[in-house]
Amino acid sequence: MDTSLFSPLPLGGDFPALPNRVVMGPMTLNQASESGHITDWIVDWYERRAAGGTGTLIGAAVFVSQGGRGWANAVGIADDSYTDGWRRCVDVAHAHGALFGTQLFHGGAASSNKLLGQQPVSASDWTREGFDPARALTEGEIEQIIDDFAAGARRSIEAGCDFLELHGAHGYLLHQFWRQDVNKRTDKWGDPLAFPVAVTQAVRAAIGPQIPLLYRFSIHADAPDAPNAPVTPESLQAFLVALEAAGVDAWDISCWRESRRGYFGTETLLSDWVRQFSSKPRIVAGNILTPQEATDYINEGHAEAVALARALIVDSQWANKAQKGELPRPVLDDSWRVINQGTDPGA
Ligand SMILES: Cc1cc2nc3c(=O)[nH]c(=O)nc-3n(C[C@H](O)[C@H](O)[C@H](O)COP(=O)(O)O)c2cc1C
Repeated sequence: MDTSLFSPLPLGGDFPALPNRVVMGPMTLNQASESGHITDWIVDWYERRAAGGTGTLIGAAVFVSQGGRGWANAVGIADDSYTDGWRRCVDVAHAHGALFGTQLFHGGAASSNKLLGQQPVSASDWTREGFDPARALTEGEIEQIIDDFAAGARRSIEAGCDFLELHGAHGYLLHQFWRQDVNKRTDKWGDPLAFPVAVTQAVRAAIGPQIPLLYRFSIHADAPDAPNAPVTPESLQAFLVALEAAGVDAWDISCWRESRRGYFGTETLLSDWVRQFSSKPRIVAGNILTPQEATDYINEGHAEAVALARALIVDSQWANKAQKGELPRPVLDDSWRVINQGTDPGA
């Protein structure tokens, strides 16, 4: 068995290295309390994955403002009452030698009047398919949300997080500002990079230089073939360069389920496009299921680490088994969806 999955990944500078190349991708499990506070169920879930040899756990998308909630029973970090719950998650990860970080999130238009008790918001007036119509944020509200991201970052650090991630992917608020088909603003926030850069700078300022900051992005909002604002190699380059200058230390590249697909009409994978424009470490997610697939992806130079979601849902011991040369449980159809009923299929 190739051991490269189990070598530490330096993140540069004085940052702690990731203990191995197996990262648990962020997963919204909808098992928080109604208010979004951490429950025993969630702590146990993280502990099993850390005990299973996963070197790095990225906690689920965590709403930084009440108006940024995306799902019922999803986790929050919108005020100080949430911090203790996250500390419990960090502690169980550390007890097994894993690193833990939160994924700071605002859903923007991907929400409903019913869930929020108010209208969802976005860069501009816009309705995301399947959701309630969102209204454009005022400039003052944008500044407030930037502060909310920074406050969520501070709370994450108080909880003991080893790193943080910004959820800039999948058509949520950060991505909505980047999408020029959604962001029609005529003020300074109409620059598609302005909001992602401002959030990144504010979070970097809040956490100081010692904590690594990851940024998750995807080109597509809903699915690999969903209609989207055209992103070109040039606009991707501008995005990566601006965010790196604002304080990003590593990329979490979300390819939906298609990390082997070429981008921009070429056969070049998204992560290889990223490498042309940035030398930062790349964590890649998207249908990487078996130890062999993960090892090959890294050995072929497409990523420095892999982010696994469904593979770690069905088998919390994935990494330990991979290290011993054993086969983890396979990801079968939609069997992993039982988590929606509160069952942990990977226990
Ligand atoms: C149940 C579930 C919840 C998810 N929640 C999030 C989330 O909160 N944030 C995020 O960026 N991606 C989320 N994702 C996407 C995964 O992190 C991952 O990118 C995607 O599932 C592809 O990886 P996989 O093929 O290993 O499952 C979720 C995926 C699943 C299956």
